[in-house]
Amino acid sequence: MNKFLKLIAVALLLISTASTYAAGVDGFEGTWVKPDESTIPANALGDQIRYGRELVTDTYNTLGGGSDFMPPYSGNKLSCSNCHMDDGTAAYAGPWSIVALKYADPGIYSAREQLYRNRQWRINGCMERSMDGVALPYDGPEMTAILAYFDWLATGMKVTSHTLVKGTGFLNLPDMTRAADPVRGAVIYKEKCEACHQADGGGVWDPDGGKNGKGKFIYPAVFGPDSFNDGAGMYRLRTGVTFVYSNMPYGRADASTAGVLKDTSSLLSQADAWDVTAYVMSQPRPVFYNQLNDWGLLYGPDGLPNYLKKVADADYPHLYPRANYADNICAPPDLSSPPLFAKTLHKYGPWTSINSVLSKWTADYKALCIVP
Ligand code: HEC
Ligand code: HEC
Repeated sequence: MNKFLKLIAVALLLISTASTYAAGVDGFEGTWVKPDESTIPANALGDQIRYGRELVTDTYNTLGGGSDFMPPYSGNKLSCSNCHMDDGTAAYAGPWSIVALKYADPGIYSAREQLYRNRQWRINGCMERSMDGVALPYDGPEMTAILAYFDWLATGMKVTSHTLVKGTGFLNLPDMTRAADPVRGAVIYKEKCEACHQADGGGVWDPDGGKNGKGKFIYPAVFGPDSFNDGAGMYRLRTGVTFVYSNMPYGRADASTAGVLKDTSSLLSQADAWDVTAYVMSQPRPVFYNQLNDWGLLYGPDGLPNYLKKVADADYPHLYPRANYADNICAPPDLSSPPLFAKTLHKYGPWTSINSVLSKWTADYKALCIVP
């Protein structure tokens, strides 16, 4: 398809889907309202807030290969806002409305990262995984600016606790009882995604886009070398599907209505969302450099080893549940013993058998190995 036809195809898709949405409903239900632009002060703090917003919406030109940093912090060509849509203000597209409060020091313990994730660590988790890059300096001007932007977003909160804000994270979908099917997903991808994200998953790149004119995605890469790596939350099927189901195909809703009326108005059925996401995640992408330390051998604040909390749909092999683990449950898994479940079961589900083994082992561990 030439570029002109591609644009027509996209325009038709947008027109055909626009009418299915209720206007004016934003998914936050009044618990959070995007602060007005005029509330950004005309001083140094205001400059920081605007710089922070630029970093997360034009990431390639400011932190990536199109920036002046050698080597760049961000490793792919995405912007943070390709997933955290509308500058991180769209409901059910990982909005940043509550980040400043939710991850206030000391942060929240993460069994994956094996540490308390405060705001800086949480941002750097996405830098290393979603952006396939390296951590930003903890107290550097870039991190400080992103936090200033998040703090400004938090001024829009209209309820007494961040836990009451609606529309945060992504919409959860119930698991399917069958495995997600990447072969069926390939057909759906061709029909509903390829016009924008392209057959090779590489998206459509405007070579002159962005602040420095170094290029910016019109439609971002969903797989291939310019996309997120396999350590990213988005890569795990149960997380990826929630994004796809609530937000794609793009233009099915004005981004501010993303997440609303999903069951009745989604252009994807739940089964289609699972299968097409399975297809996207079955394609090549960068490999996370630090897989061996995810859900590793350290212990969480509850005394349980982090490997027992490895989520069932994390498909990289280290510390998979091992066949002989139950024989010696208080000791770390014996990696010479074969994985109990196939990689494809971890990747595509259904996850019931894995989850029931993990919960049994967790109960056994608590009973047998934690000395009161
Ligand atoms: C490829 C998609 C993608 C990109 C790009 C991305 N993120 Fe994320 N981000 C996610 C997903 C998915 C989650 C939720 C992870 C989970 O639930 O495991 C998340 C979570 C977060 C959170 C926590 C939100 C919450 O409500 O707890 C913050 C903060 C965040 N990302 C910041 C960033 C920043 C800053 C960037 C750019 C440097 C970025 N992200 C780039 C997908 C992405
Ligand atoms: C009309 C064009 C269009 C269509 C069709 C479309 N997308 Fe997207 N997609 C986008 C845009 C634009 C973004 C980035 C959103 C932003 O920056 O606000 C995006 C973001 C994404 C992302 C997160 C960012 C990334 O690069 O990984 C995923 C995953 C994704 N789309 C998957 C899909 C899937 C699966 C389909 C088919 C069911 C689909 N999209 C259909 C335009 C489209």
